Amino acid sequence: QSALPEGYTVRPLQKNDYHAGFLDVLRVLTQVGDISEERWAERYDWIARLGAPPPSLSSPVPKTSDVASPTGPSDGQQFSKKSEGHGSYFVIVIINEVGKIVGTGTLVVERKFIHDLGIVGHIEDIAVAKDQQGKKLGLRIINALDYIASEVGCYKSILDCSEANEGFYKKCGFKRAGLEMAHYY
Ligand code: ACO
Repeated sequence: QSALPEGYTVRPLQKNDYHAGFLDVLRVLTQVGDISEERWAERYDWIARLGAPPPSLSSPVPKTSDVASPTGPSDGQQFSKKSEGHGSYFVIVIINEVGKIVGTGTLVVERKFIHDLGIVGHIEDIAVAKDQQGKKLGLRIINALDYIASEVGCYKSILDCSEANEGFYKKCGFKRAGLEMAHYY
């Protein structure tokens, strides 16, 4: 596990992160588009519903309406085994010392019939702001998503990446497996 730089924190995405530079960080990854606050809120609410904890988990975690996947970790602390079986979509962000989002990553949890009802994590949309790369923030994001994945009971996490990023994911403990296929609609 690597530590975050002084003053930086990791936490679940929040609804007001629209104003903290979340979409700009994603722009280092790919084209994002011009997303209004209204459209952002719709998508945020949809994601937050998938991450909502059962009522018995409501106490130490923030309000569902404010935090997407509120069972996600705040540096690993807010997350608890009690949430096993709940939550399918976790978006986390790294915040710098002045409250700006400088990194993000997503874990989508797939609950299967095969492998004795196996649970698989899909790691998506990892991005670190250009001027913040090389400070181990990417590694910290992967560590946090790996932590959530193991806590919800995933037996593995998988992701697609370019050849250029293979070295990064190897440093994070991943190994090459399979081949990606895509069908665009
Ligand atoms: N190739 C080889 N090694 C790398 C690479 C790379 N492209 N990037 C980082 N590393 C190494 C680092 O040197 C470091 O090694 P060390 O421990 O020996 O010093 C280790 O990996 C950890 O690097 P971090 O500092 O944590 O990497 P960073 O914070 O810069 O984040 C990331 C890496 C996420 C790839 C960042 O460069 C980025 O946002 N790139 C643009 C967006 C992108 O391509 N995202 C990934 C898409 S794939 C997906 O989302 C599933």
